[in-house]
Amino acid sequence: MCGIVGYIGKQKAAPILLDGIKSLEYRGYDSAGISVINNQGGVAEAQVEKAVGKVINLENKIKSRELLGGLGIIHTRWATHGGATEANAHPHSDCAGNIWLVHNGIIENYKELKNELISAGHQFKSETDTEVVAHLIEEQVKSLKSKVQSYALEDAVRLALKKVRGAYALAIIDKREPEKLVAVRNSSPLILGIGNDEYLVASDASAVVKHTRKVIYFNDGEMAILTPDNHRVVNLENQAVDSQPQELDWTVESAQKGGYPHFMLKEIFEQPEAVENCLRGRLVVQEGTAKLGGLESIKDKLREIKRIHISACGTAYLAGKVGEYMLEEYAGIPVEVDLASELRYRKPVFDNHDAVLVISQSGETADTLASVKEAKEKGILTLGIVNTVGSSIARETEAGIYQHIGPEIGVASTKAFTSQVAVLALLTLFLGRQRQMSLVTGERIARELQRLPELIRKVLQSEDLIKQIAVKYQTHNNFLYLGRKYNLPIAYEGALKLKEISYIHAEGYGAGEMKHGPIAMIDQNLPSVVIVPSDSVYEKTVSNIEEIRARRGPVIAIATEGNEDIKSLADDVIYIPKSLEMLTPILSAVPLQLFAYHVGVLRGLDVDKPRNLAKSVTVE
Ligand code: M6R
Repeated sequence: MCGIVGYIGKQKAAPILLDGIKSLEYRGYDSAGISVINNQGGVAEAQVEKAVGKVINLENKIKSRELLGGLGIIHTRWATHGGATEANAHPHSDCAGNIWLVHNGIIENYKELKNELISAGHQFKSETDTEVVAHLIEEQVKSLKSKVQSYALEDAVRLALKKVRGAYALAIIDKREPEKLVAVRNSSPLILGIGNDEYLVASDASAVVKHTRKVIYFNDGEMAILTPDNHRVVNLENQAVDSQPQELDWTVESAQKGGYPHFMLKEIFEQPEAVENCLRGRLVVQEGTAKLGGLESIKDKLREIKRIHISACGTAYLAGKVGEYMLEEYAGIPVEVDLASELRYRKPVFDNHDAVLVISQSGETADTLASVKEAKEKGILTLGIVNTVGSSIARETEAGIYQHIGPEIGVASTKAFTSQVAVLALLTLFLGRQRQMSLVTGERIARELQRLPELIRKVLQSEDLIKQIAVKYQTHNNFLYLGRKYNLPIAYEGALKLKEISYIHAEGYGAGEMKHGPIAMIDQNLPSVVIVPSDSVYEKTVSNIEEIRARRGPVIAIATEGNEDIKSLADDVIYIPKSLEMLTPILSAVPLQLFAYHVGVLRGLDVDKPRNLAKSVTVE
């Protein structure tokens, strides 16, 4: 969580920093702050401003100030230690106000470090864990000064970080060295953008793509020392690191709203293209299989896999639950799906022929990353389904499949979810064909996957109807979402979308499980959204709808086109096209995303940045 940007170059830093941090606001938005080194007339001064709330508040505050320098750092915060106040907003500084830094991550041993520093006479201005780093660097500067004639900021930073335990991406400046930016990473994302006579460091590529597409992804323990016309990357032992720049595959447009009122709506409508992109070049229809470049090198190992443990968080976990049904039914591989926050602490029983498959849009989710590390520790093969190229999870896993859907900015996962499920279908084909799946079955799945973008387009045509249904139900404060088999995870996902976007209590439940408890809540005031496609459990689900109707509960049904009978059972019906049962979740998820979106908008909420949330959860 939190977003950081640093700039050094020949241009004015402040507008570039502000622009960059706006594209990272999805990472947290309870306060923001900037520090720019103004080096006019040979006297360097740190110009600092902070504001509670979104970045716009900071922007308004600095409108009347001239921030002149070509070196600066900026931050948008998702609070962990200390409330959302100006004092706790970054950048933080040492006692003398020379060193300023912004941080994403958590300093785990900050309490003991703070106590030591207070005993040594340091005065703290915030309740944050971050501030200790500024004082630690100050302490190291003092010690270096007493030992050597001249020192450099990076030396003090390296020595200070040796005392720190935890996760950090830091951008650090010192007004005594007004031509230098130091950036360092351990377990929190950080990227270096290399421009012409300018450098940017940022939590992700969306903040640098306007300026350059030439980037370096930092590894843990790597530090960049930047001047306007030079960069050097070293490790914490001060040894040079040979980090080769890579070309970003993002465009500026992909990180902007493109005429939509919200990123969430844009990303919902991008789903046909997103699924197309993640399937592109991967389906081998005539062989009924998938060609997955990222798995080529371990093809033989995968043939030996006897069980898969899927580990993920939130929506990605629910994609994993759909994957469980697919992989068991078509590849015949037993699958266990865990919340990553559980897998990392429980004692899973791994076997040599097991693989851990993690799913993560950001590739930075702390719990998911930890479950990769846990599996590696135990010598288990680790695989990833990840969207963000070069992210920590992409690099930690042994092999994997990229989603290739471009950046997802809206906090609610939409196109990431449907494409994760599409990738899981590709994986099912790949592993299934290595095992029992026949050519005919493989071909059928591959052909249906090819049709998916078109089918999603059809679902999106129902937006007006879904909006009307949202208007009708917007004032309800409780919802039940029900589904079975492949669509049980979609019931959970639909409820999760409504909760996070509209702050309405919604509960996802197995339709068949409803009578074991939640049925007690049903009356005319509790609408149930029932996912009831014409599949192998259709009749069972219809019986569950009858149970709701008998208790006068309103029903919104997601059903298959051509099913006229359902109209007499449900108050409202949203149709999805007919497809293979295993692929219906990709279609049924879409109307639920639109429903949550419109209810949120009707309630006047900020759907792109729901309260208390952040896009990338890089803390436990
Ligand atoms: O980046 P990840 O896919 O690892 O993120 C996992 C969850 O935090 C994420 O899916 C979250 O549940 C979404 N906000 C849901 O819309």
